[in-house]
Amino acid sequence: MQRFERVGEIRQQVDEWRMSGERIAFVPTMGNLHRGHLRLVEQAHQHGQRTVVSIFVNPMQFNDQDDYAAYPSTLTQDCEKLVEAGVDALFLPSVAVIYPDGYQQNSQVVVPGLSDILCGAYRPGHFTGVATVVAKLFNIVLPNVALFGEKDFQQLMVIRRMVDELCFPVKIIGVPTEREHDGLAMSSRNGYLNVDERQRAALLYRLLKEARSQLLAGNVKIAAVEAQARQALEAGGFRPEYFSVRNAGDLSPATAKTQDLVIVAAAWLGKARLIDNICLNLG
Ligand code: PAJ
Repeated sequence: MQRFERVGEIRQQVDEWRMSGERIAFVPTMGNLHRGHLRLVEQAHQHGQRTVVSIFVNPMQFNDQDDYAAYPSTLTQDCEKLVEAGVDALFLPSVAVIYPDGYQQNSQVVVPGLSDILCGAYRPGHFTGVATVVAKLFNIVLPNVALFGEKDFQQLMVIRRMVDELCFPVKIIGVPTEREHDGLAMSSRNGYLNVDERQRAALLYRLLKEARSQLLAGNVKIAAVEAQARQALEAGGFRPEYFSVRNAGDLSPATAKTQDLVIVAAAWLGKARLIDNICLNLG
């Protein structure tokens, strides 16, 4: 696996591959890699002859600077995992390479509406930070295909909309959520849970599955399902931000007529902010 820190260097390598007819599959990450990230890499191999991964902890998408400073870094282990996973190139830029004049001075990519609801309402500026850095990374790596996890459902939608509306020639692939044995979605932030919290953490996914079963069974009001789950989260020691049944096409609130649904949830457990989701179709 080759490592690149400068824009010109990775561009040159990727250009060479592309000139010889190879397709480039790209997986952007913030490092501290777990099985969820590696699943994206595995899928990437199905979509291109060359796989490029980036590790960049993007200051622009953290609305809390303490959260940014505390973000876990495990570069040595990450590199070992990526070599084993057969990655061709790792792009590892510094903040100065991505934001030479600071991110506040950088041009921004705003995806209006979608960025302001759910996680965006609790983390102002977060999705503008995500869309901006992903746009930059796409323009640096120029991939044919890029892979994102469905765990971050709203992020995947923001990226899809950005790519669509700004005509990026990149195909976006969503990859199903990788889970621990008890159903907890794998996340770099799970490391913030203590032993007791870790045992309770699986409640979030259990409640999503329960809510899905109730909706599939019918004869139940969406608002009642949401309220019940929020109460159960509180009883389980979580501080819920939202537990909401949405239209899977645009994340607008679901009505009794919506068929393609996603239930999205975000809740704090101790120092960890956990998010998860589950899809269902009532058609
Ligand atoms: P990060 O949290 O490192 O996640 C990188 C990619 O891995 C994202 O597409 C995310 O959805 C996916 N992922 C995380 N946990 C997963 C799981 N349990 N199963 C499947 N996929 C999972 O998301 C980001 O970084 C950043 O916002 C980024 C897109 C890199 C922009 O800075």
